[in-house]
Amino acid sequence: MPDVYTTIATADAAVVAPLVETLGAGLPNLTFMTGDAQALPLPPGSVDVAVFHTVLCHVDDPELALAEAMRVLRPGGHVAIFDGDYTTVSVATSAADPLQACAEAAVGFLVHDRWLARRLPALLGAAGFEWIRVRGHNYLDAPSASGYLLALIDRGTDALLAGGRIGPEVAQALRAEAQRRSDAGEFFGHIAYVSAIAQKAGAGH
Ligand SMILES: C[S@@+](CC[C@H](N)C(=O)[O-])C[C@H]1O[C@@H](n2cnc3c(N)ncnc32)[C@H](O)[C@@H]1O
Repeated sequence: MPDVYTTIATADAAVVAPLVETLGAGLPNLTFMTGDAQALPLPPGSVDVAVFHTVLCHVDDPELALAEAMRVLRPGGHVAIFDGDYTTVSVATSAADPLQACAEAAVGFLVHDRWLARRLPALLGAAGFEWIRVRGHNYLDAPSASGYLLALIDRGTDALLAGGRIGPEVAQALRAEAQRRSDAGEFFGHIAYVSAIAQKAGAGH
């Protein structure tokens, strides 16, 4: 990426930052910084493009993060967002499928605002962005599960177990069912994703 100069890693930076430093070694135009999207360590008007890739739905205050993006972008700069519409997470293959409870629990545990993707146009408009363009995308796992959706079911099962909602035998059975379905080619998991691009006023589109 010849025109990329700075990437901000945050929150779990202790884990992520060393990895991105290693990956970025030998790319002299890249600088990795740690920081909070809600209080960026960057001066106003210093950034061409702000990218939130599956980040904004995890941030406590997405309005503040978008206000920060607006602040650090140069006039005419762009914001690009890609996030899950986590209201659509589905691993059910029939009514009352117990694996769906695991997926729901995972979303509740991992995602700060499952409705965020649906509010993106309004949030971008409220932050003062213009020329807002939104598109839909699909993530589909079938007939076998990828690591991602099996991990999601696993995290949800962990959350149900930790919360005392199920016991260890049920947790084990749920994990086994997810794996069985995948191995048998009977798995079906789906998440809709949304991308949004918008611009800070000040230059042509
Ligand atoms: C699902 S991960 C996505 C990571 C990466 N962007 C990617 O696409 O693989 C969500 C990320 O949001 C980050 N995050 C959560 N709260 C944040 C905040 N206040 N500021 C910046 N990043 C935050 C977490 O550190 C985590 O790395």
